[in-house]
Amino acid sequence: MIQLDTVKAMRAFSRDKASLGFVPTMGFLHEGHLSLVRRAKAENEYTVVSIFVNPAQFNDANDLEKYPTDLERDLVLLEREGVDAVFIPKRDEVYPEGTPTVKIRYDALMGRLCGAFRENHFEGMLLIVHNLFMWVSPTRAYFGLKDYQQFLLVEKMARDLAFPVTVHGCPLVREEDGLALSSRNVRLSTKGRSDALVISRSLFEAKADVERGGVNFALIKKNLHAALNSLRIEYASLYDAQTLEELTLPGKNGVLIAVAAYVEGVRLIDNVLIEPC
Ligand code: PAJ
Repeated sequence: MIQLDTVKAMRAFSRDKASLGFVPTMGFLHEGHLSLVRRAKAENEYTVVSIFVNPAQFNDANDLEKYPTDLERDLVLLEREGVDAVFIPKRDEVYPEGTPTVKIRYDALMGRLCGAFRENHFEGMLLIVHNLFMWVSPTRAYFGLKDYQQFLLVEKMARDLAFPVTVHGCPLVREEDGLALSSRNVRLSTKGRSDALVISRSLFEAKADVERGGVNFALIKKNLHAALNSLRIEYASLYDAQTLEELTLPGKNGVLIAVAAYVEGVRLIDNVLIEPC
């Protein structure tokens, strides 16, 4: 595995590669990230993983400062997976004049769910993914459905800005007890971790309700909020899986049930997806 620290080296690596799978990350890797890496490896001749904690997508300075890192461990994990190259650009090269003010925006889609609570988060995310796509030139890029809204936005941006890349959404990976894997989970105490389990449990219950034919989404949402009442909830509801509009009845596009809530000051997100029948 080679380590690429500059855009120039990254571009040189990508040149003439028939197929290149790309997994962008912010590091502190876990099995969720590695599931994307394995898929990229299986479907492409070469696999590149990027590690860059993108300041432009953190609306909370405290969250950025506390974002966990362990580059040495990440490199061991990626080497073990047989990744061909890891791209670790420097902040000075990525943002030589500070965070750019140019914005890639989707007004409706960005105003919902996480976008309604994390100002500028998705603009910052799309900007770095746009630039990474320019530098890495992937054939296929892999994103986790854990960040479902992020996946929808990236897929749309790649299409609308004519990137020659196919964006794939990969299943959310959980701990055995249901907790969605997240780099932020290490910030939870043992108690916080066990308190956080209510998120996945209540989502599974809501999903089971819908799958049993429940059409009273207002009631399912009410039950979801009741189950989560010990946490500070940002949002918890049922949404159209394409437009992310809140649903009161099943629609034609499938249903996303999604939650964002704080446990011990750590913002956690989770979701379940019900495909259209
Ligand atoms: P990060 O949070 O490091 O996540 C990198 C990728 O791993 C994302 O596509 C995310 O959805 C996926 N992922 C995280 N936890 C997962 C889980 N439990 N199951 C499946 N996939 C999971 O998302 C970002 O970084 C950044 O926004 C980035 C796209 C790198 C842009 O800065």
